[in-house]
Amino acid sequence: MSRWRLDGQRALVTGGTRGIGAAVVDELRGLDATVLTVARTNADVCADISEDGAAELVISAACEKLGGLDILVNNVGTNVRKSTLALSDPEIETVLTTNLTAALGFCKAAQPMLAESRGCIVNIGSVAGNVAIGTGVAYAMSKAALDQLTRYLAVEWAGAGVRVNSVNPFYTRTPLAQPVLDDPERLARVLANTPLGRIAEPEDIAAAVAFLCLPAARHITGQCLAVDGGFLARGSYVT
Ligand SMILES: NC(=O)c1ccc[n+]([C@@H]2O[C@H](COP(=O)([O-])OP(=O)(O)OC[C@H]3O[C@@H](n4cnc5c(N)ncnc54)[C@H](OP(=O)(O)O)[C@@H]3O)[C@@H](O)[C@H]2O)c1
Repeated sequence: MSRWRLDGQRALVTGGTRGIGAAVVDELRGLDATVLTVARTNADVCADISEDGAAELVISAACEKLGGLDILVNNVGTNVRKSTLALSDPEIETVLTTNLTAALGFCKAAQPMLAESRGCIVNIGSVAGNVAIGTGVAYAMSKAALDQLTRYLAVEWAGAGVRVNSVNPFYTRTPLAQPVLDDPERLARVLANTPLGRIAEPEDIAAAVAFLCLPAARHITGQCLAVDGGFLARGSYVT
């Protein structure tokens, strides 16, 4: 098999029906992987991944359809964009459960199949896990912890042959980010803080995800790759 192809690889992409997840599905299929999606609506497997027991049910349904699993992309993410004092406990719980606890549950449920295939996991994090960018504290906490989940499982599961990495975008043109991108002042601030001077398209993120899944990336694990147009590198650079 070519180290730049995914022929015969079986993948599950959570939240693969729109935005970044849909672009990841297209990218993996373009490399000849067989890909299933899970979302609450319009997916190959319909489920709310934040519910108790969802991970086991979804992974088992997906593995039955695919005959095993080589790639898991934990892409589902949600946000309640409010200041800390305005966030209710149920809102915080929803964000942490959907973005973090569910991802861990999917990793655990998929591990035996991934160990069998010597497969990999890619988590979709965010640069909001590195620095405060006004996303709301629950989202920022969930993405920071997701990075550590990535690093921890990468080390713990390396011996089982399972690689674990993250791809961490800055603002990307999807329905989730649309309220920010529709506000001209906030859009201008995002662009001013992005050295490459553009908003990411979903396929920019998907390309990095696909790379990390390739045989060519076999020595890469435990990495959290920012795909952010240079946002994190810029810091407080003043010209
Ligand atoms: N867009 C950005 O600017 C940006 C920046 C940094 C990081 N990210 C991260 O990138 C990932 C994808 O974001 P996106 O912007 O592409 O989001 P999006 O456009 O809102 O798409 C979210 C996807 O997840 C599914 N989903 C949401 N909640 C779910 C649940 N509880 N159970 C099952 N499926 C669920 C949605 O389908 P249903 O609604 O039908 O369930 C949809 O397929 C997220 O982890 C996000 O935090 C995004």
